[in-house]
Amino acid sequence: MIKATICLGLLISYYSVNSEIISKGLNSTYVPDWWQTSIIYQVYVRSFKDSNGDGIGDLIGLTQKTDYFKNLGVGAIWLSPIFQSPQLDFGYDISNYKEIDKSYGSLADFDRLLIEFHKAGIKVILDFVPNHTSDEHEWFIKSVKKIAPFTDFYVWKDPVIKDGERHPPNNWLSVFNSGSAWEWNEERQQYYLHQFLVKQPDLNYRCPTVVEDIKNTLSFWLGRGVDGFRFDATNYLFEREDLLDEPKSGKPDYEDTDYDSLNHIHTLDQPETYDMVRVWREYLEKYAEIKQEPFTKFIMVECYSPFDKTMMYYGTPSAPAAHFPFNFQFIGKFNHQSNAHDLRDVVVSWIRNMPEGMWPNWVLGNHDNSRIASRLDPMLVDGLHMIQLLLPGTAVTYYADELGVEDTYVRWDQTIDTAGLNVGPRRYEKFSRDPARSPFPWDDSINAGFSNGSKVWLPINPRYWRDNMMAQTKFKSHLKTYKQLARLRQSPTFVRGDLHVYAFSKWVFGFSRSYYDHPTYFVIINLGSEMETINLLNARNTLPDILKVKISSINSGYVTGNLLHSEYITMRPKTALVLTTSRINEDNY
Ligand code: NOJ
Repeated sequence: MIKATICLGLLISYYSVNSEIISKGLNSTYVPDWWQTSIIYQVYVRSFKDSNGDGIGDLIGLTQKTDYFKNLGVGAIWLSPIFQSPQLDFGYDISNYKEIDKSYGSLADFDRLLIEFHKAGIKVILDFVPNHTSDEHEWFIKSVKKIAPFTDFYVWKDPVIKDGERHPPNNWLSVFNSGSAWEWNEERQQYYLHQFLVKQPDLNYRCPTVVEDIKNTLSFWLGRGVDGFRFDATNYLFEREDLLDEPKSGKPDYEDTDYDSLNHIHTLDQPETYDMVRVWREYLEKYAEIKQEPFTKFIMVECYSPFDKTMMYYGTPSAPAAHFPFNFQFIGKFNHQSNAHDLRDVVVSWIRNMPEGMWPNWVLGNHDNSRIASRLDPMLVDGLHMIQLLLPGTAVTYYADELGVEDTYVRWDQTIDTAGLNVGPRRYEKFSRDPARSPFPWDDSINAGFSNGSKVWLPINPRYWRDNMMAQTKFKSHLKTYKQLARLRQSPTFVRGDLHVYAFSKWVFGFSRSYYDHPTYFVIINLGSEMETINLLNARNTLPDILKVKISSINSGYVTGNLLHSEYITMRPKTALVLTTSRINEDNY
């Protein structure tokens, strides 16, 4: 049985022999765009490199590391928010969209950063926060005072009076578990909506001036030369106007003030939100056209939404919205218990459910979640990178995951993330995001080479003496695997080739990529805790008897160049391999 769909020149057909999927890859006439072939690397600027000894990463420090990205094979960096901010949510609370926060540097530093990265052929994407500002933003201060045109810039509502007492307009809750999403403002005598912190009031997208002013801020940064945006918390942009209460979620283990105790059907993914993303896409396209920009201006959106609603952020071929919404399936659906069939579903479901003509992406981690090495298994880091970098689609890497860095334990007295602070010492470990935001370990010198200051903003991972970037250049390491993969990813087979997916056994997942007379590659990962032996001839009987190890995970016991019998490939627990049919070292990839 064969089923086929066309996807951006990618012809994908599925048939049900041994759980295989076959895709025919890109048409030879299709030229993939920069954001499709690139690895996008998320830089948590605060933790990347401190140039002035204040213990906080900054733009000058980041610029000094341009070569690191070049050598890594990264095509674009996405900077976590760098705009002026009181930093209560580390930059996601913006008090001025057109200024750089002093702790990160100045506009001049930013312009220099852009020049240097562009010179190195690396695109720069900004993290833009459209849903809310800081309450210290001039817009909010003026809105409180009802100064035109800011009066309706935020979501203001009258209280409900019951038995002579004032109550919020409804039961909506704030994400950071601090209770109601409404805060009373004494001066204006109204409640304002804040889906995140009290100090992060939600903008009102039903006010046309807000829509215009946000566009103006986008063009301010486009004018400086940025290549695109990551839109934060996009699914929160609109709420139901009739303010209906949200129903209980019924999820166990949540308290009544916890965000997850409600089902957010009235505050997330409202129909107007998709239109807004489309408007931004059109705006960026128009901008690029008018200014005759040589490269596409790119949009990716963040939304932790149900699958069908997430897919709608792609828009349609005739009315595209984002280039892609983040694919958070490796974060939300894949865990310690997952077997080869689960992994196959994670891969297949995204590709199958994308609207026609759209492009996949693979995210393993970010600043809001535990790191892959801790969330999954340090031993799976190489295998997961093989999947992420060698499947068709854009790879999005969180800083220092290329080193397989683990979360850093942060004590209660050191905790600074409000998501942790809000729930108190008993529960902070479940909610705090500090552990995944620790400074980048460059080497084994003081403060892991991150800063020469006397203190740093978050504890350094104590394993830095051993697990650091410099050390990983000296032996078989996650970093070396990552670099090999980033290089191989550029070969015609991976840029254009087809895709077959296999579950070889309950615990061994694999896929292959082929393109005309270029070598065929197999990626195989053993998720289980036992040794496994795989017969690849069962999956593809046209294979040569011998395959060569192209890349191997550090724990595999194999090295590049080993020759293996296709029908007898033994794999240690939690190991992964990239095998090739090539007999020579083709194309230098
Ligand atoms: C999503 C961001 O990723 C997260 O870090 C932030 O706290 C919220 N949006 C609020 O802006």
